[in-house]
Amino acid sequence: MRPETKALLEKDRNTVFHASTHLKQYAHGEMPGRVIETGKGIRITDSEGIELIDGFAGLYCVNIGYGREEMADAIYDQAKKLAYYHTYVGHTNEALVTLSERLINMAPGMSKVYYGMSGSDANESQLKIVWYYNNARGKPEKKKIISRDRGYHGSSVASGSLTGLPLFHAHFDLPIERIKHTMAPYYYRREDTGMTEPEFAQHCADELEKMILAEGPDTVAAMIAEPVLGTGGIVPPPEGYWAAIRKVLDKYDVLLIADEVVCGFGRIGSDFGSIYYDMKPDLITVAKGLTSAYQPLSGVMIGHRVWDVLEDGTDAWGAIGHGYTYSGHPLGAAAALCNLDIIERENLTQNAATTGEYLQMKMKAAFADHPLIGDSRGVGLLHALEFSPDRANRSHFDPSLKVGPQVAAACMEQGLIARAMPHGDILGFAPPLVVTPNEVDEIVAKAQVAVDKVMDKLVTSGQWQPK
Ligand SMILES: Cc1ncc(COP(=O)(O)O)c(C=O)c1O
Repeated sequence: MRPETKALLEKDRNTVFHASTHLKQYAHGEMPGRVIETGKGIRITDSEGIELIDGFAGLYCVNIGYGREEMADAIYDQAKKLAYYHTYVGHTNEALVTLSERLINMAPGMSKVYYGMSGSDANESQLKIVWYYNNARGKPEKKKIISRDRGYHGSSVASGSLTGLPLFHAHFDLPIERIKHTMAPYYYRREDTGMTEPEFAQHCADELEKMILAEGPDTVAAMIAEPVLGTGGIVPPPEGYWAAIRKVLDKYDVLLIADEVVCGFGRIGSDFGSIYYDMKPDLITVAKGLTSAYQPLSGVMIGHRVWDVLEDGTDAWGAIGHGYTYSGHPLGAAAALCNLDIIERENLTQNAATTGEYLQMKMKAAFADHPLIGDSRGVGLLHALEFSPDRANRSHFDPSLKVGPQVAAACMEQGLIARAMPHGDILGFAPPLVVTPNEVDEIVAKAQVAVDKVMDKLVTSGQWQPK
């Protein structure tokens, strides 16, 4: 290791609290660190000169790829002109207005956008908006929010509660009250294997309806959901799912919040996942791909039905008591505008559809019959490999074997970043939207070597025998 890298990592261990990290092992030097220095296209390079293909676009966010000077220029130009002014009481800036108009034109049925800095804070705002909405409608009891097992919506107090993964609740005293979780539309893990996809989709909708009835429809305000479950395992919905869910929500006057933090802006080959699946959301959360992570920026898009009531609320009660210092930050807006220009000019949403289809085909060809893999699934530029010791009965590996993380580490040895998803032995792929078919070939080939290596290791150590 270069002395400069070593010194930097030592300081890092002494000073930085890293997300999703074993704090003690890292602070005490018992696990490795990595200093990322540069990025170009779908690749990043660390301080040791090692180049890696980023098969997960950071955290599925660097959609236009790394090293875009045009983005740096747009941010710089805006910073020179106006780096900041707040957006309280009617103050605005040109970049923000242009961006908002563009977003409203992209998202059918939406009326206004409120801005934040992260997906977590945006979902937090969503809850407050929904609660305010029902207070303004004279329905103060209608406040519960239904999320889904395996959903991921952030890790703040409220958004972490919406998240349906045990790791994000345990030891933090979450979830908070008023938040319920219904079943995940996880066709691969369905209990009754005799069910077809549409039957399973209806079963999910029936379970949702049961929950609404058990809680009392007058107490349930909204459902929040990602069009495609992301961090919970990259699980596209079964056929017919969104139509069946929307029907139940309409029946009981329950709003739908589409969390588009991952799917928004092209990831699955459509501007929004909710357009792709015809979800007809009442509210939409965006972040990540809005700026391709060149600046922190998120948005809460509010549909007409909700917006009109919010307006009435302020008529009754005065100015709304919600606001962040950095809401509508000009640098974020400038970055988002430049990012949307690039996506449009380079047809990246279309590329996500076509190269995405190629990715799905190549992954399935390589892994659908692989003895270590139970499921190979995805849509657009999202793909997951789920490992199983016995494909026939979809059994689980002993979690202590950490098969998912082992394969992720083996990918890294091949120069490929793929993400061991936090729940289950699932390896996720979400390359930048600029990925080419040749680069997909590289990703799949490297993943194949990595999976085979882990399989050999499991077999030679006597930990597993192919069935
Ligand atoms: C669907 C979804 N919603 C919300 C979030 C939270 O976003 P952030 O990490 O920016 O707070 C994420 C992050 O991965 C996400 O995937």
